[in-house]
Amino acid sequence: MRYITLLSIVVLMAGCGKKPVSFKEQIQPILNARCTQCHGTDIHRGRIAMASYASFMNSHTVSGKEPLVIPGSPYQSRLYILCETNQPHFRMPPDTSKTVTPLPPAELELLRHWIAEGAKDN
Ligand code: HEC
Repeated sequence: MRYITLLSIVVLMAGCGKKPVSFKEQIQPILNARCTQCHGTDIHRGRIAMASYASFMNSHTVSGKEPLVIPGSPYQSRLYILCETNQPHFRMPPDTSKTVTPLPPAELELLRHWIAEGAKDN
């Protein structure tokens, strides 16, 4: 029992020491694979472009003028909410897309951590 407690403390500590999520290495590739077909430089559905950090940090929601990302708050960030929702008619990428599939849990986790860590251009 003691051993298990000790082991879980070690595992928890290892988790805390994790490197922060990198926008360039981990997030932009997800956006490139699943979003830029519709939110890129040439086509920008909803007037949202995700081809670069600057372009999507300067994009806004379709209704109103909310930013897509609120650094530090993934659950208030449209970008995350729409990828994570289990309501297919709201979800991004949309279910009408035959080529782009929803984000798997590992990618959602990266996105969530990156926003929670301040959505930096790192
Ligand atoms: C097949 C095309 C397509 C793909 C792929 C796609 N989107 Fe969209 N997205 C749209 C369209 C169309 C709209 C505009 C909807 C509207 O006008 O209400 C939109 C709107 C949005 C909005 C704004 C919604 C709002 O509330 O204003 C966000 C945020 C968004 N997309 C995020 C993403 C993300 C993140 C990805 C990739 C994981 C993605 N989209 C992939 C077509 C797409």
